Amino acid sequence: MRFLFLQILLARCRQNLIKRTRQLRLWCVKLKFWPQKRWKQIIFVLVLALIAVFVAFAGFAGLLMAGVINREVVSEIDLMNPDGDKTALIVYQPGFSSFPKDVSYIFADGLTSNGWRVEITTASPQAPSDFSKYSLLVLGYPNYGNAVGTAIVNYVNRVDYFGGVNTVIISCGGPSTASIDALRQQVEAANGTYYNGFAFSNSEDARQEGSDITP
Ligand SMILES: Cc1cc2nc3c(=O)[nH]c(=O)nc-3n(C[C@H](O)[C@H](O)[C@H](O)COP(=O)(O)O)c2cc1C
Repeated sequence: MRFLFLQILLARCRQNLIKRTRQLRLWCVKLKFWPQKRWKQIIFVLVLALIAVFVAFAGFAGLLMAGVINREVVSEIDLMNPDGDKTALIVYQPGFSSFPKDVSYIFADGLTSNGWRVEITTASPQAPSDFSKYSLLVLGYPNYGNAVGTAIVNYVNRVDYFGGVNTVIISCGGPSTASIDALRQQVEAANGTYYNGFAFSNSEDARQEGSDITP
C-alpha cells in the first residue's frame, strides 16, 4: 500500500516536472530565448536550475539569519562574586557563535576581580528592568551591519526609565563604534547615564576593561 502511494507520488512529480519544463520551453521560445542546438538547450536548462537553487538557498539562509539575529533568548540570571561590594547587571544578546556570550562573561570576570558582585543574563522580556539595586548596567550585543543587536534594542525599548544608572555599552565584532553611539542616544533618552563604550574583537580586552572599572 505504502509502495503504491510512493509510486503515484513519484509519477505525479514526474508529470509536473515535464509540464513545467514544457511551459518554460514555450515561454523561452516566445521570448526567443530557447536555443536551437540540443547541447545549448541542456546547458541553458542547467544554468536556470542552478540559478533557481542558488536563489532558494540564499532566501533560506537569509530567513534563517534574520530569525537568529532577531531572536530573544530567555535565560536564568547567573550570579558571580555574591559577596562583592556593589552590583553590576550585564544584559547581553547572544550571537551565532559564543563570542558575545564569552565577551560578556569575561567582562564580568574583570568586574568581579575589582570587587563587583555581578548578575548576568540575556536580553529578553524576563531580564530585569528596574535598575534601582544596580550601580552599573552593561549592555552587550553582536555587531551585525554596524547596528545594535535587535534583542538589545527591544530590551532597551521595554525599559522606559533607566534611573540614571551608569551604563557601559559593548559591541562584539568589528571595530565600528557607530552602533555604540546609536545605543548611547537611546539609553540617554530614557534617563540612563552613559559611562563607557567598547567594541571588542578580542575577548581578553574585555577582561582588562572590566577590571578597570571600580565599584
Ligand atoms: C550577518 C552579519 C553581519 C555582520 N556585520 C558586521 C559589520 O557590519 N561590522 C563588523 O565589524 N562585523 C560584522 N559582522 C561580524 C560580527 O560582528 C562577528 O561575527 C561577531 O562575532 C558577532 O557574533 P557572532 O559571530 O556570534 O554572531 C557580521 C556578522 C554577520 C553574521
